[in-house]
This record gives sequence, structure tokens and C-alpha cells, in this order.
Amino acid sequence: MAVKDIMDALRGETLEDIGLKENLAQLVKDIKLIGSELDVLLYTPKKGLEDILRAKVQNALSDVPDVKKVNVKFTETPPQQAQQGAQIPTGQPAFTKRKVPGVKHLIAVGSGKGGVGKSTVAANLALALAKLGYRVGLLDADIYGPSVPTLLGLKGTRATVNERNRIVPAEKFGIKVLSIGFMLPSEDTPVIWRGPMLMKALTQFLFDVDWGELDYLILDLPPGTGDVQLTLAQNVDISGAVVVTTPQDVALADVKKATSMFKEVQIPVLGVIENMAYFICPSDSQKYYIFGKGKTAEFASAYGLKILGSIPIDPEVSERSDKGEPIVVENPESEVAKAFYGIARIVTQELS
Ligand SMILES: Nc1ncnc2c1ncn2[C@@H]1O[C@H](COP(=O)(O)OP(=O)(O)OP(=O)(O)O)[C@@H](O)[C@H]1O
Ligand SMILES: [Mg+2]
Repeated sequence: MAVKDIMDALRGETLEDIGLKENLAQLVKDIKLIGSELDVLLYTPKKGLEDILRAKVQNALSDVPDVKKVNVKFTETPPQQAQQGAQIPTGQPAFTKRKVPGVKHLIAVGSGKGGVGKSTVAANLALALAKLGYRVGLLDADIYGPSVPTLLGLKGTRATVNERNRIVPAEKFGIKVLSIGFMLPSEDTPVIWRGPMLMKALTQFLFDVDWGELDYLILDLPPGTGDVQLTLAQNVDISGAVVVTTPQDVALADVKKATSMFKEVQIPVLGVIENMAYFICPSDSQKYYIFGKGKTAEFASAYGLKILGSIPIDPEVSERSDKGEPIVVENPESEVAKAFYGIARIVTQELS
């Protein structure tokens, strides 16, 4: 059993970030488990990769029960399967989607268009779920413009690593939080993450984090349907995606792109969240549909999507967001907060 667990864990480790098409399992020439100590003999297709491969093996196996110590040795002779040029029959799809250890449901929050309130929704949805009694984490995967540190008043927080070499998330308002913003030397550091760097940062973010046991991990994706979304979608076992939009034609047009991307990579779209749906005028308490009423519903029914909820536009949201005071926590009786609680309940039902 242990050997199967070990091979499964290694199979889940792709090596695209270091330019290899194989997964770790396909490089294994020999493994030997004596007690809780594992010896792995690994084929290195290229010189100079030894250190990174060793780290990857140790990391991939860190959660396998019964394995306490891993020794990695290298050989230049390929395993038999590779010599014959044959693929190891894994019975797995072309890409292996890994589960984040300890996390029951991973929910990606995406949008076709930027600035529609995706991060606001991701953060407040996470907090609403926590208030409902679930164990929740929030991962800011927007490596281009991380905004979670601001939204939750965590600016200046730096990531730490524990004795098991795992990143420790911050904790705020009862949820675990990690943002690429915690990795930067300062607020103003410009980061250009590209290609392998980007992919490595992302996978590290999910799999090398000590999330503990979580019912829900909410993933704030960058806007659009680029590399980040695809890498995550192909490599990570995501339970479902929610797509945030505003009821404007331009935003709705991009929802189409986002939903078809999720469908292509076989991630179920749980539904659409309509943000900035209407304005409640403080003087007459009437709802005003600034961007038009019923557009999102029409769009959703045309594409067979469910509307998970509609959030009003409220200046209190942006004022509080800038101060790190999420509205769900600071004003739970507000219409906006109530909308988030409603969405959180629907999301839990959709996934149960
Ligand atoms: N319901 C709302 N009412 C009022 N302001 C809102 C609402 N939702 C979001 N905002 C504000 O709109 C702006 C954009 O929101 P947010 O940063 O969450 O969008 P985003 O889609 O994550 O953007 P990006 O594409 O840059 O990641 C922020 O200033 C936010 O406070
Ligand atoms: Mg954002």
C-alpha cells in the first residue's frame, strides 16, 4: 500500500517548470522502503537538476504516511520504460490533477474581465463561510495584482516557513490567508513572474502550504483566462468555479470566455455572482438598477448557468475594503453582507 501511495504522490508531481515532460514517477528507476526510510533511485535526463529533483521528491512525499525519511540517489541510466520510449501506463488523464492536502473543497473565483469585484467577492465569501462555521482558507492567486493583503488589513505581512519547510498562512478574522503579496520584499516591489517562475510560485502556493484541515479553500484568480488559470486548472483538483460579473454587456461577454475555459478543463461552474447589481438609495430605500435589470439572468439562462446571488453596489464596500475592514465582518446586517451569506449557503449546498 505504501508503495502505491508513494508512486501516486510522485505521479502527481509534474516537471514542466524545469523543462521536463515526464512526471516524477516516470523518472523512478528503483525505490526501496525499509521501515519508514525510503531510498529512491532517480533517473536525471539532464545534468544539474539533481538538487531540484531531490527537493521535489522530498516535498511530494512529505504527506505520505509511513515515510519519515527520503534519500534520493541519481543515475544516468533511464528506467526501462523510458529506454523503450514507452509511456508508463498510469490509467490517468494526460494531466494529473492533484488534491491540495487537507482541503475538502477548493473553489476558484474567476472573472472574464478585471475590476468586477472578484477579490472583494473571494474575500467576503471566504469570511461568510467562516461565519457559518466552516474552516476556511483564502489564497490570493492574483500574482499580478494581489489585493487580499489590503482587503483584510494584512499589508506588511510576510510569509514564514515552518520546520517542515512549509509556508505558514496568516490568520485573520478566523480564516487562513496567503497572498503572493506576503512574499514580496515591500509593497512597491514590481514583480514580473513569467514562464517557469510563475508556474513554480503557483504550485508552491498550493501544495507547499501548511493549510491544516479546511472545509473550503477559496482561490482568488487573476482576471481573464490566461496562463495562471490554465496551469491551476490542469494541475489542481478544483471542486468548482464561481464567475463574478457586473451586469454590463462588456463584462457579460467575457463571462462566456471564462465559463468555457472552466468547462474545457473540466471544472464545474457552480454559477455566476452578479456584483454591483443595483444601488439602494439611502433616502428612499428603493433599488436602482444602474447597469440594467435582468441582463445577468437572461445571460445565465441562455448559457445554462445558475445565478448564485446578486450583490448591491455600496460605497461602504470600497471604503471599508481600502481600510482592511471587510463588510461581511464589520457590518453583517448590511444588504451586501446578507447577499454574501446567501451566496455562501448556496455554494455549500452546490458542493454537498
Ligand atoms: N459591491 C460593491 N460595491 C461597491 N464597490 C465595490 C463592490 N464590489 C467591488 N467594489 C470595488 O470595486 C473595486 C474593484 O474590486 P476588486 O478589486 O474586488 O475587483 P477585481 O475584479 O478583483 O479586480 P482585479 O481585476 O484588479 O483583480 C474595488 O475598489 C472594490 O472596493
Ligand atoms: Mg482582484
